[in-house]
Amino acid sequence: MLDLLNEFVTRAKADRQRIVLPEGTEERTLQAADKALAEGIADLIILGKRDEIMALGRKYNLKNLEKATIIDPETSEKKEQYAQSFCELRKKKGMTIEEARRKMLDPLYFGCMIIKSGDADGQLAGARNATSNVLRPALQIIKTSPGVTCVSGAMMLLAKTKEYGQDGLLVVADVAVTPVPDAHQLAEIAVCTARTAHDIAGIKEPKVAMLSFSTKGSASHDVVDKVVEATKLAKEIASDIQIDGELQADAALVPSVGASKAPGSLIAGHANVLVFPCLEVGNIAYKLVQRLGGATAIGPVLQGIARPVNDLSRGCSTDDIFYMIAVTCDQAINAKKIK
Ligand code: ACO
Repeated sequence: MLDLLNEFVTRAKADRQRIVLPEGTEERTLQAADKALAEGIADLIILGKRDEIMALGRKYNLKNLEKATIIDPETSEKKEQYAQSFCELRKKKGMTIEEARRKMLDPLYFGCMIIKSGDADGQLAGARNATSNVLRPALQIIKTSPGVTCVSGAMMLLAKTKEYGQDGLLVVADVAVTPVPDAHQLAEIAVCTARTAHDIAGIKEPKVAMLSFSTKGSASHDVVDKVVEATKLAKEIASDIQIDGELQADAALVPSVGASKAPGSLIAGHANVLVFPCLEVGNIAYKLVQRLGGATAIGPVLQGIARPVNDLSRGCSTDDIFYMIAVTCDQAINAKKIK
């Protein structure tokens, strides 16, 4: 696991990105920020009142916070400019300037406007805020990457044994965003997850299994048809990805089961990317694998946003935040390559 985590950090250091941390008075966030600044993995923009942040820094004995840019949304000279731009952006949705000014006092919105205006490359929050609060400003302001309409969240799972995936590493999605994807959204989730597996998790050859309770027609139901349709659409969207479905989880992972249930499939028995049919399944499944199976879960890595905005679990540790700063940097580096 350490190899993978170190890889995130090495990539981040090689091309320093500007990352916003909107929860500037949150203890674990400040500890992680201090470590990231000490190691030089990112240029950090911490949101909040300078006096308060520096006082907390002294309290926690943090020596590097001076290296961060600290911005207080309430007193920022950009506040009015961002409010005007946000109002313009949401005009068709009935946004008023008064409401836009109120929104700019929310660091999660303010941070996304910094990114939108080109002064930062990504944002990381969620140690204090619920997922939907972290996501909504990103969806409203930064919006989706070119060619993507559906944002989703991938989890990197490192199993205790190296038997499955790439030496025990699998990337699974959606575990975080879209409650009930339609076939096209599911296809996009598959394509984005294959890219995340390759670009972020370092899986050399992503092999995507579209999961269901059926393997190759063993059961019939509307929800199975959706997975079959999504598999077909994913191949049309990205002809370069290796994908197959519908597959049950055992057929996707276990070579002998794959060979008997889906003979001839190049994915069955060898999958290292698993796409769940809906968010309920994905979120529950990864938590069971983590808690009952003892796998290490890294993420969620939000995918499909034009510039990375990542969401932390409220139970996260300082190390979780530190490594997610690095992952956010890695995504920002990749996002800049997409025209
Ligand atoms: N992809 C792209 N855009 C989206 C998506 C999506 N999946 N969902 C919503 N949007 C867009 C909408 O089209 C809308 O755009 P517009 O206002 O410019 O037209 C904008 O985002 C905001 O949409 P809202 O309607 O305000 O937000 P909504 O109520 O649909 O909520 C949200 C979106 C926040 C993503 C919601 O679907 C959600 O809460 N999802 C579940 C999050 C969650 O709780 N996850 C589990 C925890 S995470 C974990 O355990 C790892």
